[in-house]
Amino acid sequence: MFSKILVCSDGSEEAIKAAQSAAELAKKFNSTVVLINVFTPTPGPMPFVGAPEAVSYNQMAVDADEVQEAVERRTGRVFDEAGIPYQTRRELGHPVDRIVSVAEEEKADLIVMGSRGLGGFQRFLLGSVSDGVLHHAHCPVLIVR
Ligand SMILES: Nc1ncnc2c1ncn2[C@@H]1O[C@H](COP(=O)(O)OP(=O)(O)O)[C@@H](O)[C@H]1O
Ligand SMILES: [Mg+2]
Repeated sequence: MFSKILVCSDGSEEAIKAAQSAAELAKKFNSTVVLINVFTPTPGPMPFVGAPEAVSYNQMAVDADEVQEAVERRTGRVFDEAGIPYQTRRELGHPVDRIVSVAEEEKADLIVMGSRGLGGFQRFLLGSVSDGVLHHAHCPVLIVR
């Protein structure tokens, strides 16, 4: 039934919990697992007046790589411990857009994510990323809480 599961992680406790559910499902359904993290580059302040633009672009790439590697390590541990192989996707852009597009591209038949993540306001039941994916995804979405 679920032959390919796209697991979304921002490295938060909630995402790790979601990954644990995904690992159990993957075991039951013998699913392929793809782990996705989306890094959103934000225009920071120009470090120095007159600094070549390439410097800040390079720095952005380094930041993205560091963050995404850490998220992969943290989330991947769940699958390593469960003995489930997985692929990783490091994406740049808007999390909802990238998650929905990659789910289609990968022909995932289930998206698994947390109800909340790293940021946001506690008074909301759902974070904006899980809310957006739930609205726009073309496949079933499991939101773990
Ligand atoms: N940048 C991201 N890349 C991949 N998955 C993400 C990203 N941001 C959030 N998610 C997924 O969406 C879930 C909900 O997070 P989010 O909607 O951002 O809530 P919050 O507003 O509390 O941060 C997370 O547990 C994670 O599974
Ligand atoms: Mg968030």
